[in-house]
Amino acid sequence: MGKVAIVTGGIGGLGTAMCKALCAQGRTVVAAYYPAEADKAAEWQKARKEEGLDIAVYPVDVSDLESCAQLVAKVEADLGPVEILVNNAGITRDSVFKRMTDAQWLAVINTNLNSLFNMTKPVFEKMTSRGWGRIINISSVNGQKGQFGQANYSAAKAGAHGFTMALAQEGAKAGVTVNTISPGYIGTDMVMAIAEEVRNKIIATIPVGRLGTPEDIARTVAFLADDEAGFITGADMYVNGGLYIH
Ligand code: CAA
Repeated sequence: MGKVAIVTGGIGGLGTAMCKALCAQGRTVVAAYYPAEADKAAEWQKARKEEGLDIAVYPVDVSDLESCAQLVAKVEADLGPVEILVNNAGITRDSVFKRMTDAQWLAVINTNLNSLFNMTKPVFEKMTSRGWGRIINISSVNGQKGQFGQANYSAAKAGAHGFTMALAQEGAKAGVTVNTISPGYIGTDMVMAIAEEVRNKIIATIPVGRLGTPEDIARTVAFLADDEAGFITGADMYVNGGLYIH
């Protein structure tokens, strides 16, 4: 059996492609899904089986530390130590700031930023004692450049890379790499939910002239998760079609 990899938001647009890429790399993959989506997760698992992929599905609320600790304990008992963690689960609650509610602010901070603490806490120390680990945090181009209507999301996603930079230093000597991927606009449900007129204006600003694909992100996840990627740590990989170049 290959090293165990957990992908949060594993049954979503980006997560599905990530799970497939990690399977292709020989990992034992766990797609973690939001507990309210049990039916969708069962269907998703069936569809993967039909494609010849055996992927475990487990529920988790990434905004809740106890739920994350329980997920990791169950996965460890069933499959073995968690050696690769992809913190991918994320939501949007877009609104101009003057109309943004504290519920919209907190939902995004809890799900997109506090989740990194909640999911990484139960795995990090064990990775360092074993001397190997890969943590990949999915941020966003909008955490790098800011985005009108996303004060909550941009704050959380910028925070994600701060977390990466600090933890990379703590994991380095113990063989645990911690990296960020900052996707640009990818053709997932999240981006397709933006009003068409607004979305088309955004696409017009992307130098390659189109949305990215989930596979663009998934192959970057596999690259960072590779056994040979041990010298890359604390990095922020831009996969954005040139939308933000720094
Ligand atoms: N810069 C400056 N002004 C802008 C602007 C921008 N980027 N976008 C809109 N405005 C202006 C509008 O022209 C409008 O001006 P007027 O009042 O003078 O007409 C005003 O701001 C209000 O804009 P809207 O009519 O769009 O306001 P709304 O309340 O209907 O919608 C919004 C607000 C929901 C934030 C909407 O603008 C929107 O969806 N924006 C896109 C947000 C976005 O990019 N989200 C990314 C989601 S995908 C994702 O997050 C994945 C990832 O990581 C990339």
